[in-house]
Amino acid sequence: MTTLAAGQSGRTAVGFDVARVRADFPSLSELVHGKPLVYLDSANTSQKPAAVIQATDDYYRHANANIHRATHLLSERATALYEGARRKAAAFLNAGDDHTIVLTKGTTDGINLVASSYGRSVLQAGDEILLTWLEHHSNIVPWQLIAEQTGAAIRVVPINDAGELDQDAYAALLSERTKIVAVGHVSNALGTINPVKAMIAQAHAVGAVVLIDGAQAAPHLPIDVKDLDCDFYVLSSHKVFGPTGTGVLYGRRALLDAMPPYQGGGDMIANVTFEKTLYNQIPYKFEAGTPNIAGVAGFGAAIDYLMGIDRDAALAHEDDVLAYATARVREIPGVRIIGEARHKTGVLSFVMEGVHPHDAGTILDQQGIAVRTGQHCAQPVMDKFCIPATIRASLAIYNNREDIDALVRGLLKVQEVFS
Ligand code: ALA
Repeated sequence: MTTLAAGQSGRTAVGFDVARVRADFPSLSELVHGKPLVYLDSANTSQKPAAVIQATDDYYRHANANIHRATHLLSERATALYEGARRKAAAFLNAGDDHTIVLTKGTTDGINLVASSYGRSVLQAGDEILLTWLEHHSNIVPWQLIAEQTGAAIRVVPINDAGELDQDAYAALLSERTKIVAVGHVSNALGTINPVKAMIAQAHAVGAVVLIDGAQAAPHLPIDVKDLDCDFYVLSSHKVFGPTGTGVLYGRRALLDAMPPYQGGGDMIANVTFEKTLYNQIPYKFEAGTPNIAGVAGFGAAIDYLMGIDRDAALAHEDDVLAYATARVREIPGVRIIGEARHKTGVLSFVMEGVHPHDAGTILDQQGIAVRTGQHCAQPVMDKFCIPATIRASLAIYNNREDIDALVRGLLKVQEVFS
């Protein structure tokens, strides 16, 4: 059993057995270029526990049929898996009501759905959409598309040198013109945890509706949409140990009820004639076509997995590994950490003097160490720090201090090659 000191969350990792968790993830035993895999790219996509792989396999072996559309046993099984995952997602987010959970292709799909359906129907010329400099491109571009179509304007909350949102600027930017605030819960490029609960309350005070991009928060932090009081919350299955191509949009019931469909097709209708189509109730109104049923079955298993561990202890463990990584990497001469917010989770971004991040990534890969290098789909963040790219090590519950020791050895090797 691993016992670690409390991290910045103040939680303790007593009782969190990282070796046992690692054993649940078959891919962590892979050899990469003949070296044991050190996986530090979970913000990009997480590895999958055996239970998720098994659930996906089980669907194809024992329940392969379409959902909601047939009277035979396999279809009943498929529908039960699909709707079961929806119930689990509702519990995972403390949504209370399954009908407020739309199963999507992932975070990007969820944001596009809200921008296209809600944004297009409420925004008018002169209205404002408030974003932040920390956003991933998927929480920028869908809003730009809708702004172009509606005449609404985009406003942007700046960040300080630590990579934190400027809360005074946020308060000053909010006005009765602000109709939508779209903000990430955790920055994928820097790991900053934004104070979204307070930001939501401030946005509501001027009558704005708030979408939270939870893609990078859900793998680390407990999410409670009732406590946050957000209007929309989106996340991706593949970042919370589930399959790719599926995710969740939580929406406040009254908003979802009033929103027009995003896409037309099967399953989203109640009655179709050439004169008029009546739409299905929520959430089905937003789920046109045959979805990624196998992926959703795996997503359900991923939620079971996450809810089956002590998440407070897991977060304390992750905090400890992040604090250790920050201290060790900072000691390397010529390294500059990008993003030193007081509240961070899961991400260590940095640059090395005289080394392009892509070259560092390639040399690390040769040593079995997987990191992401580049802009991380967050070009404004790079622009703010006047850099083209960073090296990003990102963590999940299965990482440990040994992974960080390997990263440090790898970075010293990078410096040796470039010296
Ligand atoms: N996949 C994106 C990342 O790596 C979101 O941060």
